[in-house]
Amino acid sequence: MFILLIAVFLFPLLSCDFSFKGKTDSEEPNSEKPGSEKPGSEKPGTQEPDSWKTTQPLHEPYKDYFLLGNIVSPGDLANDRFNILKRHFNTATAENAMKPDNIAPFSKPASDDWSYRWTQADNLVNAVNAAGLPMHGHTLIWHQQTPSWLFAGDKETVLANLEKFVTDVAGHFKGKLISWDVVNEAMRDGLTAADVANANWKNCLRMNDNGWNKAIGPEYIEKAFLAARAADPDAQLFYNDYSLNSFTGNNKHRAVYNMVKDINERYPDVGGRPLIDGIGMQSHHHLNTTPESVEFSIQLFSSLNVKITISEMDIMAAKGYGNGLTNDWDDSAAELQAKKYAAMFRIFKKYASNISRVTFWGLDDRTSWRASTYPTLLDKDYNLKPAFQAVANPDNF
Ligand code: XIL
Repeated sequence: MFILLIAVFLFPLLSCDFSFKGKTDSEEPNSEKPGSEKPGSEKPGTQEPDSWKTTQPLHEPYKDYFLLGNIVSPGDLANDRFNILKRHFNTATAENAMKPDNIAPFSKPASDDWSYRWTQADNLVNAVNAAGLPMHGHTLIWHQQTPSWLFAGDKETVLANLEKFVTDVAGHFKGKLISWDVVNEAMRDGLTAADVANANWKNCLRMNDNGWNKAIGPEYIEKAFLAARAADPDAQLFYNDYSLNSFTGNNKHRAVYNMVKDINERYPDVGGRPLIDGIGMQSHHHLNTTPESVEFSIQLFSSLNVKITISEMDIMAAKGYGNGLTNDWDDSAAELQAKKYAAMFRIFKKYASNISRVTFWGLDDRTSWRASTYPTLLDKDYNLKPAFQAVANPDNF
């Protein structure tokens, strides 16, 4: 009787315990074992906190393909942002600290001895290099974020300014950078087929909004590259621009192709190689950007025998910035964004022999320059987004 009582009393408890265990086991393959979940099913906020600390370094699967980078700012050095950079990326670009606005003298110097403001950029470059990450320089000659006194005056004055600025800055950082964006965003938007016909590029340059071209003319491009090569012969020299994927109504990729071809044909051997080493495709994409349009341009630029970098990649995934998107950020946008990242990275892997570096323009969705469109791989609390998983494993996504 006593045994019967115990049995009757305990059985529900035991069976309850067994059934609980059994349920957990049977759920594990779908929901808990790494690698067995549905791609993109991990919602930001539902994963382990700080999973960026334990998940495999993002650059690891790309070690035989290309460098994987992100941007860095002086304020990043003393907190987790630097740890994220060091764990997941193996190269860095200064988001703003090395732009002319942050380095050049505020106003025209009275003598040839220009007082540059090096401290902030020096600290950044030294810290990043000390952490073992090679750095890319961004940027020398640009129509934006540049003190306007540099392009004030007649052609001779402005050309002298350009050559001195490039010589001094590229010389100052010599040996500390693997590469430079020598000229940034020189081509204007909305180029037609007629604009780029007959291998033309000079009439495709920005004019009224570009002080350099306005004062010097198209030769400012090659003058900048020549000064950079002389100042730092080992640095790879890039032309960098946005909207270089080929899409309807846009021929910027063709103008850049024409320009690099022409300049490298005229300067085939400057310090043992053609003057322009490569083309940086900024790659500020959105959900409607087609992988085919990117692949087309990678093939086109590869035919010039120059290196390609994906230099400022992000994918806008919510409405804003005239990108034609009307959706707000939600799970489906996160999923679409992840698929787009995966498709792009499959192409980058395919052309890895032509691509030397892929750099993201933003560590997380809080600090991205286009934060309102959620364009990066980490959410605002540094949780891994589906986009992160997509880049970590694009072939199986
Ligand atoms: C952006 C920075 O991310 C912003 O912080 C800044 O306010 C403006 O410039 N193309 C470039 C980059 O070459 O330098 C730009 O960076 C983004 C577009």
